[in-house]
Amino acid sequence: MTVRLRFSDLRAQPGLLTGLERLGEACWPGFLLHGDVRSWHLLPEEFPSFQTALLDPLGEPVAAGHCVPLSWDGTIGGLPSRIEEIIARASADLRSGRVAGAISALAVLVRPDMRGRGLSRAVLERMKILGSRRSCTCLIAPVRPVLKERWPLASMEAYAGWRDAEGAPVDPWIRTHWRMGASILAVAPDTLTVTESVAGWESWTGLSFPASGSYCIPGGLQPLEIDLEADRGTYRDPNLWMVHRIDASTGLPEDCDPDPGLDRVGDPPPGLAAPDAGPGGSAFTSRPRPWASWR
Ligand SMILES: CC(C)(COP(=O)(O)OP(=O)(O)OC[C@H]1O[C@@H](n2cnc3c(N)ncnc32)[C@H](O)[C@@H]1OP(=O)(O)O)[C@@H](O)C(=O)NCCC(=O)NCCS
Repeated sequence: MTVRLRFSDLRAQPGLLTGLERLGEACWPGFLLHGDVRSWHLLPEEFPSFQTALLDPLGEPVAAGHCVPLSWDGTIGGLPSRIEEIIARASADLRSGRVAGAISALAVLVRPDMRGRGLSRAVLERMKILGSRRSCTCLIAPVRPVLKERWPLASMEAYAGWRDAEGAPVDPWIRTHWRMGASILAVAPDTLTVTESVAGWESWTGLSFPASGSYCIPGGLQPLEIDLEADRGTYRDPNLWMVHRIDASTGLPEDCDPDPGLDRVGDPPPGLAAPDAGPGGSAFTSRPRPWASWR
């Protein structure tokens, strides 16, 4: 059966927020919703048209894309380190009138029962269209590889380089970006940190932590560090920065109105320093990098 989906966003439909919260809860490991991202609530306030959702016929979000326009100098060193830093920079750009030449993804979510149908690609294409309308030349994305949790002890640098027999990235989510022509820029080792008591972590994960040390946890891309004496567990979420070029041919659907409040966003960054020239290659600079309450 074909289900007809349509895009909307928080500017057109502020009431979508509740559905987006439900989608987030269905998609993330619970602990990730408790990360040190303090500015997520700014997204509906300052960047509502960049919070997009694919809606089913009943108006329920089945997929979402969260992004912001921001200034980026095109260098690896100029990439934000953390999710919080992405939002803070975008917000500062907006308030100061600084030109944003890039769009940065914050998250792409597809409801579990709708995965494997290419919806995430549609969401990424939508982000590129939003950028294109503002003359942005690239979409940058802190990619959270979906299968990395199976190999939590492998370094992200090594994992990102793993290729299958056809030379494509082993990880399906990295592969989706790669097939769209995106390049790997850098590892972002700490995009978001979750700090909680040992009892809190035991409740989130269903595991017990009888001694201090490193523990592999469901949904964790690298181990959780437990310090019993301090009664603290710390998890740092590593991502992989990738970049998509946005060119003049990126489509502009008629239903995609620019947000008047964001019309100052426009000029491209001076250049892209993408050391990995397209599918297959990779180059890394290990950089620190950080989630999410809407209210
Ligand atoms: C990552 C995510 C957005 C991908 O969405 P999607 O719509 O399933 O993506 P696609 O349909 O393009 O599938 C891409 C590939 O991943 C595979 N895939 C999708 N979900 C998968 C899963 N849970 N496990 C293994 N493979 C999966 C698909 O089969 C496809 O493989 P292919 O390249 O061989 O065709 C989705 O899995 C998701 O919402 N995950 C939870 C949130 C998240 O981690 N988001 C990304 C970080 S921002």
